[in-house]
Amino acid sequence: MSSNIASADGRLGILLPGLGAVATTLIAGVHAVNKGISKPIGSTSQMGTIRIGKRTENKTPLIKDFIPLADISKIAFGGWDIFEDNVYQSAVHAGVLDRYLLEQLKPELEAIKPMKAVFDKKYVTKLEGTYYKTGATKMDLADQLREDIRNFKTENNCDRLAMVWCGSTEIYIEESAVHQTIESLEEGLRNNDENIPSSMIYAYAAIMEGVPYANGAPNLSADIPALIALAKRNGVPICGKDFKTGQTLMKTILAPGLKTRSLGIAGWFSTNILGNRDGEVLDDPASFKTKEMSKLSVLDSILEPEKNPDLYKDLYHKVRINYYPPHGDNKEGWDNLDIFGWLGYKMQIKVDFLCRDSILAAPLVLDLAIFLDLASRANMSGIQEWLSFFFKAPQTPTKNMQPLHDIFKQEMKLKNTLRHLQGEDLITHLGLDYEEEATQNA
Ligand SMILES: NC(=O)c1ccc[n+]([C@@H]2O[C@H](COP(=O)([O-])OP(=O)(O)OC[C@H]3O[C@@H](n4cnc5c(N)ncnc54)[C@H](O)[C@@H]3O)[C@@H](O)[C@H]2O)c1
Repeated sequence: MSSNIASADGRLGILLPGLGAVATTLIAGVHAVNKGISKPIGSTSQMGTIRIGKRTENKTPLIKDFIPLADISKIAFGGWDIFEDNVYQSAVHAGVLDRYLLEQLKPELEAIKPMKAVFDKKYVTKLEGTYYKTGATKMDLADQLREDIRNFKTENNCDRLAMVWCGSTEIYIEESAVHQTIESLEEGLRNNDENIPSSMIYAYAAIMEGVPYANGAPNLSADIPALIALAKRNGVPICGKDFKTGQTLMKTILAPGLKTRSLGIAGWFSTNILGNRDGEVLDDPASFKTKEMSKLSVLDSILEPEKNPDLYKDLYHKVRINYYPPHGDNKEGWDNLDIFGWLGYKMQIKVDFLCRDSILAAPLVLDLAIFLDLASRANMSGIQEWLSFFFKAPQTPTKNMQPLHDIFKQEMKLKNTLRHLQGEDLITHLGLDYEEEATQNA
């Protein structure tokens, strides 16, 4: 099977719409790793291992040594933003990484200047952009993005590209008629249909240029039938939505554990306080609605109340996000779980996660770009469900399918996909063959 995967040699360009906290933390981080200053902690593609064969064989290489992945010392970064700040200035503004580290990377970071964004305040009401493209129609804007993509590839000597949306969360938009087919979407782009927000224009441009696309925010972007069909037609892998970090990461670690023990949950109250620009955007009820929908869906799919009514039917799930400037990027996620055990006796779990949002998200952007590039070289197209591992609201191959949220199932799916691509046996943890072996050897 591995012979079907095209070589990972050469240079991968990672294009990021939105050069804010997450994107600049990623870019600075990759430069720091390449300079030997830090390690890529939290990145599955760089630090994750994969067991091959039986447990008794003791073969657990690093994922990057098992399957050909783009080399992070050969990555070129580019992006768009509505502010003209270069990546160094934007990273200083974001305040995630300390100045001492940023000073050591200053020349590399200053060299990355944003391209003019495609932006409309209608979709992110809290932002006042100054640096964006103009065009008579949304199709004109898409054409300008496509030109940016081609120019970036040539100017940076890239062999391949991947795009990950790191822009602000847009207002909640429901799927509608214009999103249904490639033709209706293209018609909508020419007619400036209001149901086509900026992130969809980037996704369209990427897919038209054959560039794999991931969406790190909860807004629809490429999660519409038209773009899914376009990705299939053009042989482009896509995935989304909304990076799984912080509180939802914790939720999808804890909930499967409680369910495995058949413990009931009566209530789960989650509140976040954060003070970065993302928090400010989410202070707007329309942008929060997009995030809320993404965060709320997680528990139902893990706990399956319809199949476990005694345990989860009455679960009260509440999610809040509060903009609180003094905390900056250092988000605090509080969870209160009211659970019950044997004979219905009540217990409580409290989680106070003092996390750093962008520190958790940056490695996911790297992994998504690297795995999407792998998918592209392996001729995989359309929705990449095996990358659900990285998302709060994973896209599924068909509409009537519940997404997988359980992080352990997601991990198994990701690793089995890698094993499958390399022609290795899948691991089911059944383990019966060990007993057979023991009997034979007895
Ligand atoms: N950090 C996390 O843990 C996490 C988790 C899940 C999702 N996300 C999502 O990732 C995205 C980025 O988060 P962040 O903390 O870096 O936010 P941020 O506000 O620091 O950065 C977003 C950047 O996007 C820019 N932008 C907005 N609209 C744009 C457009 N149309 N084109 C180009 N640039 C545009 C903004 O100017 C800003 O610089 C947000 O949507 C956030 O909700 C983050």
